[in-house]
Amino acid sequence: MRIAVIGAGSVGTALAEAFAHAGHTVTVGTRNPAKAGATALAEASGGGIRVTGYREAVDSSELVVLAVPGRLVVEIVAGIGPDAFGGKLVIDPTNPVVVTDEGVTSAFAEDDSAAEALQRLLPDARVVKAFNQIEAANMLDRLPEEKRPMRIAGDDEAAKAIVAGLLEAFGWKIRDLGPLTRARALERGAVEWMAGQWRSGLEGE
Ligand SMILES: NC(=O)c1ccc[n+]([C@@H]2O[C@H](COP(=O)([O-])OP(=O)(O)OC[C@H]3O[C@@H](n4cnc5c(N)ncnc54)[C@H](OP(=O)(O)O)[C@@H]3O)[C@@H](O)[C@H]2O)c1
Repeated sequence: MRIAVIGAGSVGTALAEAFAHAGHTVTVGTRNPAKAGATALAEASGGGIRVTGYREAVDSSELVVLAVPGRLVVEIVAGIGPDAFGGKLVIDPTNPVVVTDEGVTSAFAEDDSAAEALQRLLPDARVVKAFNQIEAANMLDRLPEEKRPMRIAGDDEAAKAIVAGLLEAFGWKIRDLGPLTRARALERGAVEWMAGQWRSGLEGE
């Protein structure tokens, strides 16, 4: 598949390398394609990964992974231009974490999620929540002998089937939670886990 990975951070780099290794055509979109990390990523891939700006990456792909901060993902996609996403499959791995001196909370109310906000912004795209419960380092390290569970959610059955096929090739056992409203539980679980980590850090002080 032609896959765009937006954001060359921990998740973006891990997914881009794994998808390219599996033979997909990968374009990484980054705010600054000239930055050292981005050029190194392209060079290390031996031609398997192209690095461009955000818009060009989206334009050149049929599937877009938004590996950017969850609290900013809607703003970032609005900046790229929602028209670029028409008809595309969008994987949302984000957790909309807000960290303050008071603790860790979600940028979205309990009856909303980053994934649903994205789908509202991109009515012509098909958003699938996936990966947000998995650590970047473990996202696509293939363990064929041991199928690992990955929960996904989305409103478009065909889109979820494509994502499932893509991820099953990396050893994931897909558990479809249902419509995109189920992304609320997926995001809340991850944010609560991070809030617990934050509180235990406080106890250790
Ligand atoms: N790390 C994990 O283990 C993990 C696991 C599950 C889910 N997630 C979620 O996946 C998403 C990406 O996580 P990550 O760990 O890859 O984060 P990260 O290392 O901080 O990378 C995020 C990338 O987003 C881009 N970006 C665009 N605007 C930004 C801004 N204003 N501030 C900061 N970064 C900006 C940057 O890429 P460019 O500069 O290249 O454009 C940055 O490298 C997050 O929503 C996170 O909650 C992370």
